[in-house]
Formats: sequence, C-alpha cells, structure tokens
Amino acid sequence: MPNYESEIKRRRTFAIISHPDAGKTTLTEKFLLYGGAIAQAGQVKGKKNTRAATSDWMEIEKQRGISVTSSVMQFQYEGYCINILDTPGHQDFSEDTYRTLMAADSAVMVIDAAKGVEAQTRKLFKVCAMRDIPIFTFINKMDREARDSFELLEELEKELGIETYPVNWPIGCGKDFQGVYDRGSRKIIHFTSNGGAKAATATEVELGDPNLDGLIGERLHRQLTDEIELLDGAAAEFDLDRVRHGKLSPVFFGSALTNFGVEPFLEHFLQMTTAPLPRRAGELVVDSLDDDFSAFVFKIQANMNKAHRDRIAFMRIVSGRFDADKEVYHVQGGKKLRLSRPQQLMAAEREIIEEAYAGDIIGVFDPGIFSIGDTLCAPGKAFTFEGIPTFAPEHFSLVRQVDTMKRKQFIKGTTQIAQEGAIQIFQEIGGGMEEVIVGVVGTLQFDVLEYRLKNEYNVDIRMEGLPYQYIRWIENEDLDPKTLNLTSDTKRIQDVRGRYLLLFTNSWNINWAEEHNPDLVLSEFGRN
Ligand code: G4P
Repeated sequence: MPNYESEIKRRRTFAIISHPDAGKTTLTEKFLLYGGAIAQAGQVKGKKNTRAATSDWMEIEKQRGISVTSSVMQFQYEGYCINILDTPGHQDFSEDTYRTLMAADSAVMVIDAAKGVEAQTRKLFKVCAMRDIPIFTFINKMDREARDSFELLEELEKELGIETYPVNWPIGCGKDFQGVYDRGSRKIIHFTSNGGAKAATATEVELGDPNLDGLIGERLHRQLTDEIELLDGAAAEFDLDRVRHGKLSPVFFGSALTNFGVEPFLEHFLQMTTAPLPRRAGELVVDSLDDDFSAFVFKIQANMNKAHRDRIAFMRIVSGRFDADKEVYHVQGGKKLRLSRPQQLMAAEREIIEEAYAGDIIGVFDPGIFSIGDTLCAPGKAFTFEGIPTFAPEHFSLVRQVDTMKRKQFIKGTTQIAQEGAIQIFQEIGGGMEEVIVGVVGTLQFDVLEYRLKNEYNVDIRMEGLPYQYIRWIENEDLDPKTLNLTSDTKRIQDVRGRYLLLFTNSWNINWAEEHNPDLVLSEFGRN
C-alpha cells in the first residue's frame, strides 16, 4: 500500500445534476460554505452578473442564462476531501454530462419539491442509469409549498424506475418547515434559521420527547407519527449494496436556501458514498490504491479564460499520486511528458498544484495533444482505460466558411471544437475539409459552433440543415461502402479517422439497409 493511502481514502468525487432552477448551484454553494472554501453565498456562479463566474465562461451562456459547460471544485469537510463535478443544465449537452459522470463515483440529484421529476431530471437520470452510478436524491425547496412527500417518492420510482429509501423525512413544508426526522437514529432535527448564514442551528430531539409538541406543534407531531408508521411499514429496506449499484436511491429532504437539512444530507452522503472506485482498462482493473499514477481525460475545454486563449484537458486520477515534477506516459500519443500547469479549481479560484491523488480531477494545459478518453500512466506501463462512447448525433448540417481565404482557420477551429467533443465532424468519402458535415446531439451546439468560430477563430460560416436523423458507424473493417445496396436518400460518409458511416433520414431506411446487406454490421456509438 502506498504511504498516502489515507489521502486517497478520504476522497469523495461526485457529480451534481438537476433540472435548471431546482437549486443545484445553491446547494453546491452551501457545501462550499460548510467546507470553508468560500466565505459567503453567491460566489460560485450566477446567471446574474454580480457573481464570479467559474462556469459561465461563454457569452452564449450569459445571453441565454444557461450553463453550457461543467466545472469542478474541491473542498475539505470534516476530514473528507471532496471533488464536486458540476454538470451543464441544458439537455442539448447531455453528452457532456455523460462524460462528466465517467469521472464521478456517484451523483447527487437535486429535485424541486414543488415540481418533482422534470424533463431534464428524466434525461440526466437516464444518462446516470447507463452507468449504474449510485444516485442520492436531495428534495429541495421544502421552505416553500411542496408536493406531498409520499407522492414525490412515488413519482421518482415510477418515472425514473429506481427504488427510493427516505433517509430522513420532512416535518411540515413552506413556512411550517421545521426540520427533518432522521430514520436511522429516530431523532428529530429541528432547525432554526440563521438567515442563510453558515449553518442553520440544529437541535436534536428524541421522538418520544415530551416537549416535542411545544417544539413542532401538536398538528405536525401527529402528522409525523402517522407518516413514520406508514414509512416503517413500506417495503423498501435500506441496502447499501443496492445503493452502490444504482438500484436504490437514498432520499433526503431540505432547503438549500435556508440551510435546513443540508448538513445532515452531506454527513450521511459522505458516509454512504465510496472512496475513489477502480476503473477498467481491458482485462486489467486499476485500483485507486495501486502504487502507480494513472488518469484519463474526460473533458477538454478551450478558452475558459479568454485572456489566455488556453485549452485545458481535465483528467480524473484513477490511481496513485500525481507529482508535477515527474514525467507521465501519454498512451495514445506514445510519448513521455510532463503535464503542464496542472491546476485545480478551488471554489471560484484556479490554483496551480504540485500534487494530487486518486479521485482528484486536475486540469492541465493542452497544446492540442489530448483527446477525450486518453489514458495517462506511469512511464513503463501502457494500458488504456475503457473509452468514453460518443453519442450518436441527431442533427446534421453542412458547414463551410464564407471566405475561402480563411480555410486554415476554419479547419483548425472545427477540428479543435470537435476534439473537445462539442460537435462531431464528418466528410464526404474522399472529400476535403473545406466543407464538413457537422453532427450534434442538441441543436444549441450549432449556435455554439457558429459563435466560437467567429469569436475565437475569426471565421464566418454558412450552415445548411441536412434532413438526416440517424447515424450509424459501419463496423465491418474491409467493406467498401460503395458496394452497399442502400435507399437513394441514405448518405455514405467518413469520420476524421477514416471510418465509414451511413446517414439515414428515417429508421425505416436503417432496416432496409440491414435487410439488403446481410453482412453489414452497424453501430450506434463511435468510440473515441
Ligand atoms: P440551479 O443551479 O439548479 O439552476 O438553481 P439555483 O441554485 O440557481 O436556484 C434557482 C433559484 O431557486 C434561485 O432563485 C435560488 O435562490 C432558488 N432556490 C434554491 N434553493 C432554494 C430553496 O431551498 N428554497 C427556495 N425557496 N429557493 C431556493 P433565483 O431567484 O432564480 O436567483 P437568486 O436571485 O435567488 O440568486
């Protein structure tokens, strides 16, 4: 065992997901406040320009009030070292969320108690379920009129198809929200507001305490007794193993705004979630406590800081310790290198670091050598972590530059933005790069492409929507696509690595292609 074992074991790395406005930012902020990483609320990010923006790095985000990119923050709390991965709130960026989840060991799902499961909750949850990642639910905004708690749980189970286990139970809601009942200790945690300052004052009272009526009122006391009886009679047992396999979601109630229930949530959550989990590299399982350093790139982001025009590759450390002075081996590049300007985001600040451990996320300066899914390991080793699948794009446009003199910048811009994973680019078979077919998962990405090419590469483009809806990679290695028997509206193209693909206008044409070409093997996902 390495001598820094305790450093690794105290790490917790999780992603936070929610439908926009459910309270993800507010909750994150409260975590950071408890950890002492920020001094006052309002420092994390904001749709309003008064707040320092760690994640609102692009104008387009500010204009539309959405968070397009995700960011990573680290803070300390009661001996734990916590890495939070924020995820973009917009559905057009589900792919980014998926990649972020690859770097996390669990997810916290924030639900608005008045709204329940919303459109984006459903989409993000689906992405979590693809990886069976443990999901912890925080039902937020209990300080407002909320829907019935049983009804909310039923909706979670029905709509998302996951069992739930309420770890605590709310006492009242809206102005009457008094606190939560902790089912494990059978104690009542009564909160008194501190006006949103550090933590709400919490008083713990036994369920049988004779003063309970005085504290929460006779009506709420009676209601609570009835509800506890109902809860205890309900079927689901708490089973940590099922939680860790993403089959059972522990549920907590609270209000991020008033701080009610945030600390009890954080404490339970940190105990239930795991220290950094192992990752697969083919036959090999790489454990966080392995001696040697290893990491994989899950995100590349350009121009986070406009003044520097830099490109940052974010990597999750899978095993060992990262030492800024030591060389690492970049497997896909086949080169030994020293990672340049390694940094971590501490709340709103970027900080250059000398060392980091398994479970941590570091950002390094990327001169254009990294791709999403790349593996870094100790020199002398060479394994590759399982790739991060690319989502099949659903919208396609033909894109070319307006001014042919800008050809170089156009190629550079589209290629770099594609390397970041924001778009996918394809070509006519045997065609050049002066005109590309761009595929995206959400149409907002077209706007991002246009905006970024103009602002970062000084290139104006013309975009023409294409009628295709489905894309499939051809898995057969030696197949010449010209020999395929296809409907006239099916298009043969290639990706930047020269792999052949087909574009279809409807699913009927996919069936047609498969029926008329019995040896053809099509795949929905392209690996990086
Ligand atoms: P998001 O990141 O999930 O999009 O949500 P965010 O935290 O930005 O919260 C969205 C709005 O909901 C904010 O109000 C925030 O203050 C409010 N909110 C968050 N948690 C709670 C809660 O527990 N109770 C109540 N009552 N409100 C909550 P806003 O008016 O949009 O912004 P602001 O001016 O308050 O910052």
